[in-house]
Amino acid sequence: MKKLIIEGKHKLTGTIKIGGAKNSVVALLPAAMLTNGKSVIYNVPDISDVHMLLEMMKILGSDVTFENETVTIDNKNSVNKEIPEEYATKLRASYYFMGVLLAKYNHSEISYPGGCSIGSRPIDLHVTGFEKLGAKIKINNNKYTITSKKLTGSDIFLDFASVGATLNIMFAAVKAEGTTNIYNAAKEPEIVNVASFLNSMGAKIYGVGTSEIIIEGVKELGDGIVEVIPDRIEAGTYLIIGALLGKNLVIEGIIKEHLGSVITKLKEIGCNLKIEGTTVTLNKVDKLKPVNVKTLVYPGFPTDLGQPMSTLLTQCEGESLFEETIYENRMRHIKHLNAMGANIKLFDQSALINGKTELIGRTVVATDLRAGAAMLVAGMLAEGITTITNIEHILRGYEKIVEKLSSVGGKIRLIDT
Ligand code: EPZ
Repeated sequence: MKKLIIEGKHKLTGTIKIGGAKNSVVALLPAAMLTNGKSVIYNVPDISDVHMLLEMMKILGSDVTFENETVTIDNKNSVNKEIPEEYATKLRASYYFMGVLLAKYNHSEISYPGGCSIGSRPIDLHVTGFEKLGAKIKINNNKYTITSKKLTGSDIFLDFASVGATLNIMFAAVKAEGTTNIYNAAKEPEIVNVASFLNSMGAKIYGVGTSEIIIEGVKELGDGIVEVIPDRIEAGTYLIIGALLGKNLVIEGIIKEHLGSVITKLKEIGCNLKIEGTTVTLNKVDKLKPVNVKTLVYPGFPTDLGQPMSTLLTQCEGESLFEETIYENRMRHIKHLNAMGANIKLFDQSALINGKTELIGRTVVATDLRAGAAMLVAGMLAEGITTITNIEHILRGYEKIVEKLSSVGGKIRLIDT
């Protein structure tokens, strides 16, 4: 079992380079299957989710290479096949092949997806969207078989501005006959990144980044090219660590517009962020002010940074309120923070965090990807040694995290027992 061993309280000085966004690349890779042509995807992070998706693309007959942060894809021999369950259940993003294979072959077969256990994570909005486009869905033993004689553009109103549903419906609609309007669409930057990739292939997608997306179906798609945007969640995680331990810590390669809510909240807490182009320099804040953090859809405070942020709030002098509004089970890290010495009262998906509390290192569990990040932040600031188990979760979403933190003075190592 892989574990992270962290010795806390070391100042961090130097530069951390941000990689490509996990939640963008896990949609870009399946999207590349929409064309029978070639695609190139730059700035791809070396994370386990990428390798898993490349394996699935090979099963679909795609000829892929991954080197120097670049993935090339050639689909001249691509075929329609069922994605085996042992792959589909490994990550949530496997469900993007539903919309992609439906658009390409009018038929897709894939098991219910995996993903962090942070809630029930239904895919009803995806399914309803496919049905609105004319598809029929059969579910048998958790396997989804989605077929259509012909996909026809439609008006689709999402009950919730779901990132996954917005993208999956976009994939299914790009070659549908006629125009599809998605209302209450997700506005996350990753949606814009993926749409720009599809448009490079010849798709006609307008309005991305707003809550109304228009997709004019096209007959064929050609070769594609795209660069993965920087990972705003990775960047935010390192900014949180910098606020606790930075000594002229430089976070390089961010798009500050994607981090508006996070930068605003960190400044409210007392951070002095020096932002120059795509780099942010910050230092440990001696007196952190208590604040309220409520996660919302973009451009609100991102749910994926709620957990790491709650660790920072344990160091604020006073009472902070942290509310998770996107998922119904994203507070499993709180008990581990309390076990390290935090003073947090939990009321369903709201936490009252009293600080400042000294955190003491101990063995804790990464219950999901961002809970793992919260534990990592805690270990970096705690007295003594913190051991984090189940860290496969963390390695899914944080590229070279041991190398990056060690390179700026962090005392962290990965052991495999
Ligand atoms: C994406 O998940 C991200 N994952 C999540 O990041 C992120 O937290 C989430 O978007 C919100 O930003 C990937 O991109 C792989 P949603 P997704 O559909 O698409 C409900 C991380 O840590 N919902 O926007 O699954 C759902 O239950 C991960 O990197 C439905 O009810 O998120 C949840 O409460 C975690 N029906 C809410 O919407 C549906 O059909 C948000 O889900 C779909 C979603």
